[in-house]
Amino acid sequence: MSNLDFIPLMVPDIQQHDIDAVVAVLQSGMLIQGSKVEELESNIAQYLGVRHAIAVSSGTASLHLALVAFGIGRGDEVIVPAFSYIATANVVELVGAKPVFVDIDFNTFNIDKNLIERAITIKTKAIIPVHEFGLACDIREICELAKINNIKIIEDAACALGATENGKFTGTFGNVGSFSFHPRKAITSGEGGILVTDDDELARKLRILRNHGIEIRDGKMEFVEAGFNYRLTDFQAALVNSQLGRLESIINYKEKLANIYFDELSQTNKIILPKVPQNKRHSWQSFHLVLDSIINRNEFIDNLRKQGVGTNYGAQCIPAMIYYKNKYHYHSEKEFPNAFKAYLCGIAIPLYSRLKEEQVKFISKTIIQSI
Ligand SMILES: Cc1ncc(COP(=O)(O)O)c(C=O)c1O
Repeated sequence: MSNLDFIPLMVPDIQQHDIDAVVAVLQSGMLIQGSKVEELESNIAQYLGVRHAIAVSSGTASLHLALVAFGIGRGDEVIVPAFSYIATANVVELVGAKPVFVDIDFNTFNIDKNLIERAITIKTKAIIPVHEFGLACDIREICELAKINNIKIIEDAACALGATENGKFTGTFGNVGSFSFHPRKAITSGEGGILVTDDDELARKLRILRNHGIEIRDGKMEFVEAGFNYRLTDFQAALVNSQLGRLESIINYKEKLANIYFDELSQTNKIILPKVPQNKRHSWQSFHLVLDSIINRNEFIDNLRKQGVGTNYGAQCIPAMIYYKNKYHYHSEKEFPNAFKAYLCGIAIPLYSRLKEEQVKFISKTIIQSI
C-alpha cells in the first residue's frame, strides 16, 4: 500500500472557488473581522432561522464566551456530559466554575436526560448539553427541565450544524447555541466557531466580549467590558461562507455513506452500531461505533492504520482524563460506566464528502476482517 492509498479519518471539503474566495480577501488587504464575517453571520442566522449569529475564533471560544456572558464563575456549577470533546468541560473550569458530569445514554452517546435532575443543586447555573457526533440529544426535555429550575442552556452543537430534532435545528433550542468550524466538521474555516441566539441583549453582550469589550456609543468607541480577542478573520469567514451553500448536500451524501456502513457492518455482532431515533436528523460529523470489549481498541486502530484506514477514538470520558481525575478523584468506571465504555471501546471511522462508496465498502471489509 502506498501513502496515496491511505484513507484518512477526515478530509475537508475545500474546492477551488472556496480557495478563490479566501484569496480575494487576502488581496483586498482587509484581513480581520469585517464584511465577510458579517456575511457569514447573516447567512448562518438565516439558515438556522435565528435572530443573531456571532462568529468567533473557535468552538471553544464560543462556549467560553457564553459562560462569561451569563456571568458564570466561582462557586457555580455547570452540568456537562461525561462523554464529549474535552473543551466542553474545560471552559467551565476556565471560568472558575465546577463541571458536574452526567453519564450518557449508550444508544446515542448523548447525555442521559433521566440522570440530569439529580445532578441539579442550588449552585447549578447552566447545562451544556452536547449533540455528540452530530446527533441531537433530548434537547426539548432538557430545556424544559432547565426552565423549571431557572438554569441556562448553552447547546454545544460543535458537531451538529444542520442536525435537527422534529425539524428544528440543533443550537436553536437553548438560550444560546455554539458551533465549531474545525476541519473535522462538515464545513470549516480552519479554526472558527459561531454562537446563535434569539436574545437581543445576550447577542449584544457576546459581540462586545469577543472584541476587547468594545461598544460604539454615540458614534464613539468605548471599552465597556473586560473583553477578549475572540474574533474570526475575514479570510476564514470567506472560506466557510463559500462552503455553506453545499452544507445540505454534504450532509445528505454523508447520510448515504452512513447507510452503507450500517448495511456492511451489521454483518458482525462484535460491533455496536449507532442508533438514530426517527425524529432526529443526524448531521454525521462522525460515524462512531463501539467495539466488543474483548478487542483492544488502540491495537485495533493501529492495525487498521497499517491496512490503510485512518480511525481514532471518538471522544473522551472527561472525568477519566488526568486533570479531572486528579482534581475531583473520580472513579469513572463506576460513576460514568457508559461514558467510560464509549471512550475505551469507541472508534470514529472515516466519513466525509470526498469519500467514495467503494472506499466505505473497503473500510467496512477491513474492519470486519480485523476483528
Ligand atoms: C463537542 C465539542 N465541543 C467543543 C469543541 C471545540 O471546538 P473547537 O475545536 O472549534 O474549539 C469540539 C471540537 O471538536 C467538540 O467536538
